[in-house]
Amino acid sequence: MAITSNMRINSERLWDSLMEMAKIGPGIAGGNNRQTLTDEDAEGRRLFERWCTDAGMTMGLDKMGTMFARREGTDPDALPVYVGSHLDTQPTGGKYDGVLGVLGGLEIIRQLNDMNIKTKHPIVVVNFTNEEGTRFAPAMVASGVFAGRHTLDWAYAREDAEGKTLGDELKRVGYLGDEEVGARKMHAFFELHIEQGPILENENKDIGVVTHGQGLKWLEVTLIGRESHTGSTPMPMRVNAGLGMARMTELVNEIALSHAPNAVGAIGHCDVYPNSRNIIPGKVVFTVDFRHPEKDVITDMETRFRQGVREISEGIGLQHSIEEVGGFDPVEFDHGCVTAVRAAAERLGYSHRDLVSGAGHDACWINRVAPTSMVMCPCVDGLSHNEAEDISPDWAAAGTNVLFHAVVETAVIVD
Ligand code: GLV
Ligand code: MN
Ligand code: MN
Repeated sequence: MAITSNMRINSERLWDSLMEMAKIGPGIAGGNNRQTLTDEDAEGRRLFERWCTDAGMTMGLDKMGTMFARREGTDPDALPVYVGSHLDTQPTGGKYDGVLGVLGGLEIIRQLNDMNIKTKHPIVVVNFTNEEGTRFAPAMVASGVFAGRHTLDWAYAREDAEGKTLGDELKRVGYLGDEEVGARKMHAFFELHIEQGPILENENKDIGVVTHGQGLKWLEVTLIGRESHTGSTPMPMRVNAGLGMARMTELVNEIALSHAPNAVGAIGHCDVYPNSRNIIPGKVVFTVDFRHPEKDVITDMETRFRQGVREISEGIGLQHSIEEVGGFDPVEFDHGCVTAVRAAAERLGYSHRDLVSGAGHDACWINRVAPTSMVMCPCVDGLSHNEAEDISPDWAAAGTNVLFHAVVETAVIVD
């Protein structure tokens, strides 16, 4: 049986589930704070698990805490089609970043059950651990281990700001599984996500067909100066680590702008020591995030930044060190999977355009080990990583319908 354009997901049920999940770990301004491996994350996982069980799926859990809910196919030898994203959020996150991709996957299963449709390939809905990378750097760490980019021990040793490790926190919240990470073989992987940028809304398009993902480099810089009195230390005698960071903030901006319009760069996290009103900062630690669709440009940005940090530090008398804390090369998604997404949008009558993803996604790592692509839907004002992040129920439904068609077509309906 072929999939036809009248086959659609239940958009009300999808929206209700999104709203239900958003009640867990509410933020302070209408969004969510469900950071990875917190009690709130565990509660969100348990709700997802219950929904999956109710939909007749069986849950697998790997050693990185990634959850795999499986609906059987008819062919015991056929590899599963995977679909999903992440349920963890930023500390001031929205209700849809990641969550739409997981609950959109669940909605596909519920709809297949309702329509009594069987597929040749099993379908597995995934919730990857720690996509956001805010509590434990880097982002997409579990999919990175799955794709062989990081070792399990290295991932377990990642520390949060309080010195708790990812491995200990996995155990504490009860989501340390025993399945080897990356042992699963995938027929294909599809991830639905909000765009997190303004292009689709500005161009009035329903769907982004994601052909590429830009690469990124995360650096952590430590500057050491000398703590001294802000009132009595003469200006020429100061060794001000805060001043160094200020100059480096400008530098990051200039470097990104020199590769306009596609390069971006920002300092997102900083700790100033001792952080007192009347002490000149003796130490500053901050992170830099550079991104571009071409690897050479990312390399150029990093090289120029490292050189600039040396010069600025020498000028002020600071010591400095730079550590790489995250990175991946630009991604080209699988032609067959991209074509399946585009064909689904066409069949369903949605307006669409090709997109390069500005954000990192688990799909970027999974693409290294399985044919992969992504579907995007618009978000209001392109705003994300902000509690005010918003989408309409129609946008969510359109994205999930495209996901539904791409996944089910790939999993092959059995008569
Ligand atoms: C992940 O959310 C990223 O793009 O930083
Ligand atoms: Mn996300
Ligand atoms: Mn995010």
